[in-house]
Amino acid sequence: MWQVYTRRRRIRWLAIGFILILIVWCFILYKSLNITYEKDISHSHSSSLTSVSSFLYEIDNLDLFIKQTPVKYNYHIFYYPWYGNPEYDAGQYFHWNHRRLAHWNREKVSNYPQNPHEPPDDIGSNFYPLLGPYSSRSPTILDKHMRMIRMSGAGTLSVSWYPPGMADDAGHPWNDLMPLLLDTAEKYKLKICFHIEPYQNRTADNVIYWSDYILRQYGSHSAFYRYKEKGFFYIYDSYRISADEWYQKFLSNNKIKQQAFFVGLILKSNDCQQLVSSGFDAAYSYFAANGFTEASTSQRWSSIVGICKSIPFIPSIGPGYIDTNIRPWNGETTRSRQNGNYYKQMFKDLPKGNDKIVTITSFNEWHEGTQIEPAIEKNVSKNIIYESYHQGPFTYIYLTRELIFTT
Ligand SMILES: *[C@@H]1O[C@H](CO)[C@@H](O)[C@H](O)[C@H]1NC(C)=O
Ligand SMILES: *[C@@H]1O[C@H](CO)[C@@H](O)[C@H](O)[C@H]1NC(C)=O
Repeated sequence: MWQVYTRRRRIRWLAIGFILILIVWCFILYKSLNITYEKDISHSHSSSLTSVSSFLYEIDNLDLFIKQTPVKYNYHIFYYPWYGNPEYDAGQYFHWNHRRLAHWNREKVSNYPQNPHEPPDDIGSNFYPLLGPYSSRSPTILDKHMRMIRMSGAGTLSVSWYPPGMADDAGHPWNDLMPLLLDTAEKYKLKICFHIEPYQNRTADNVIYWSDYILRQYGSHSAFYRYKEKGFFYIYDSYRISADEWYQKFLSNNKIKQQAFFVGLILKSNDCQQLVSSGFDAAYSYFAANGFTEASTSQRWSSIVGICKSIPFIPSIGPGYIDTNIRPWNGETTRSRQNGNYYKQMFKDLPKGNDKIVTITSFNEWHEGTQIEPAIEKNVSKNIIYESYHQGPFTYIYLTRELIFTT
């Protein structure tokens, strides 16, 4: 009897013990599952909120990142692939070593320095990039750029472009980089259109020729931006070619007008009528220095839309402007970022209408200080101090997203 009793008791205690252990084990398992679950949530959450951590982490689920980081393709951001450094560009820096440009007034030339900058510490910008004086030829840099642009909410890059073998004075040709740029944009489900620069001997005829070349070379790529099924070309300083020449050439090349949408640059509201009679499809203002031209004066934008009437006006917004490290005499054009308020004001002045195209000057025009690309605080010496953003390197990436999705 006693033995049976103790045996039963022992079994009971064993059972209770077993159940207790099971409960504790389940609890621990639950906790650990819960922790990893929460970790995943906050991780993916942070990418949708575009925090720095989402940038620093390897993205293990790209589809999720893209899904949780929406973009608007009607926001076109100007992108410059002209930077070079010794590691990727045959031992040389490009653009970071930009010259200090001579004063346009001959009498004043000698008042200002003209020596080139000496990277990596001394660069042709008033800001210093988080990614350092990078090369646009580095696939890692391009990947990071596309991720940053995705995080900014802008869906389309307007890539600065010169014909094969040509470049500006401070750069070297980069048309050969376009396939990699398109592929990297595609990875992040971004689109690319083209910003045709004033290359040597540019004429209406050869602009049409090169637009057709771009359509043939890149038009079938899935990252190639299309608007109403057409290729999209911004023509910088289009007014350097006469309205009559544009008109004649557009007229005699009817085919290109069916395949491509051409956007000309305007300085004044009246220039719009000229663009219309030249055969352009839209106008843009480019300059981020508010008030630099009439067309870049944000308070004038609503009226300019009315003046352009028959063609859309595409205003260009920007976070500020400062180019005194490459144009030491141009302090007058400086526009302080005012801790983001300058940028906010330009957004506020955008003519209303959700699906309208808006341009952002710029992702990485570092010389003119219009970039939203992350910059870091850096003091090299007493003489070289770089400006930084008020809320850290990603300030303008976040602010752009916030403004795009609340405008
Ligand atoms: C531009 O035109 C000039 C004069 O016709 C010519 O010498 C030069 O080679 C041309 N440059 C280019 C890049 O085509
Ligand atoms: C750089 O210099 C500025 C102005 O002298 C100063 O306010 C800032 O704290 C310095 N930053 C660093 C990182 O040394």
